Amino acid sequence: MKTQIAIVGAGPAGLLLGHLLRAEGLEVVIVERATADYVLGRIRAGVLERTTTDLMDRIGLGERMHRDGLPHGGFHLADGQRLIRIDIAALTGRQVMVYGQTELTRDLMDAAPERGLPIIYGARDVVLHDLASDAPYLTFVEDGAPRRIDAQFICGCDGFHGPSRAAIPPAAARTYEKIYPFGWLGILADVPPCDDELIYANHERGFALASMRSEKRSRYYIQVPLDQKIEDWPDDRLWDELAVRLGPEAGGRITRGPALEKSIAPLRSFVFEPMRHGRLLLAGDSAHIVPPTGAKGLNLAASDVHYLSEALTGYFRRADPDAIAGYSDRALARIWKAERFSWQLTRLMHRFPDNDAFDRRMQLADLDYIASSPAAQTTIAENYVGLPL
Ligand code: FAD
Ligand code: DHB
Repeated sequence: MKTQIAIVGAGPAGLLLGHLLRAEGLEVVIVERATADYVLGRIRAGVLERTTTDLMDRIGLGERMHRDGLPHGGFHLADGQRLIRIDIAALTGRQVMVYGQTELTRDLMDAAPERGLPIIYGARDVVLHDLASDAPYLTFVEDGAPRRIDAQFICGCDGFHGPSRAAIPPAAARTYEKIYPFGWLGILADVPPCDDELIYANHERGFALASMRSEKRSRYYIQVPLDQKIEDWPDDRLWDELAVRLGPEAGGRITRGPALEKSIAPLRSFVFEPMRHGRLLLAGDSAHIVPPTGAKGLNLAASDVHYLSEALTGYFRRADPDAIAGYSDRALARIWKAERFSWQLTRLMHRFPDNDAFDRRMQLADLDYIASSPAAQTTIAENYVGLPL
């Protein structure tokens, strides 16, 4: 099979990119290792920036998001006692949208057939070939049979563990990485959220986050040491811990219920640059990871594919030779600022094993300063709502 652009991975980055390119009339094929149900079963991001919702609108797939999503004009930081409201709507004139990654993925998946966007699910052993030539190609196994797709460009949207980044010789790139000494244990439950807005809490026992998927479905997280397992956290223990860490006001309003899903995710900061090697272009988690504290991962995947679709459109529609060359630098300028924000908010809100009493007082002083300073609140708000493209 021949196509203009082959995309590896049908997560949010691959699907959004596929739709943006199809909207420009380009030929695209997506190759995904997992099944559609598996991709939809992963409970991950919950907060969309305006830049991300604008992209969904641009490809005409924002209807369900606007109907079922919850626009949020603010969120809270908590210090174990009080709630500090960050009024993002008043400080930036914009809002974020609470709409699960699962739902966004479903909207993109469901619309793929009618937009002429083929997705090959269950592709085994995907290998990228001849990336430094003008004729790269993919090989894989579909239903036991070997397949090959020849493309002019391959886009690696296959997440942190996919084969695309691994196909780039180490000498051609540089990586930056920070691994955090804890993870996030998440619980999803069909109970009303404890607050109308999200709460990021720094308690002396560790970080907690109160989030939601709808007015009837809650999503909570707590910071846990890396050696802990889900079995260590029966539902009752987790609800007890959340009630303590979220503080007396919000913690007292928690409604408990059985877990629909529980999982532990490690925290990492990671950047791989450049995001291009010959005819291979990386986007989303395949090129960078942020700790989830700033809700930036999915939103960065979306801004990458915005730049990448412009680059590929420039190449195919306007024969602009510089379009592809500029992609990596454009994307990385925004990525590094999101890395900075996510790292800073992670340091502000978590307990690190080597924190001493002074470090703790610094965190509390920081939160106290934020509570009293519109300037500090504006800095947080403009990063949280998403920096301009
Ligand atoms: P992925 O979603 O990882 O998709 C990659 C796809 O490639 C997958 O479908 C995978 O199956 C496929 N693939 C992998 N290997 C192969 C192969 N060999 N062949 C073919 N296909 C392959 N981000 C936010 O913006 N806001 C949040 O609130 C937020 N919260 C989060 C909470 C948690 C607990 C976690 C874990 C993440 C969170 N994120 C958040 C981050 C966000 O989920 C990711 O950044 C986002 O999924 C990245 O999208 P992606 O398409 O680049 O990668
Ligand atoms: C969610 C996840 C995040 O990482 C975050 O910062 C906010 C919300 C969520 O899953 O709802």
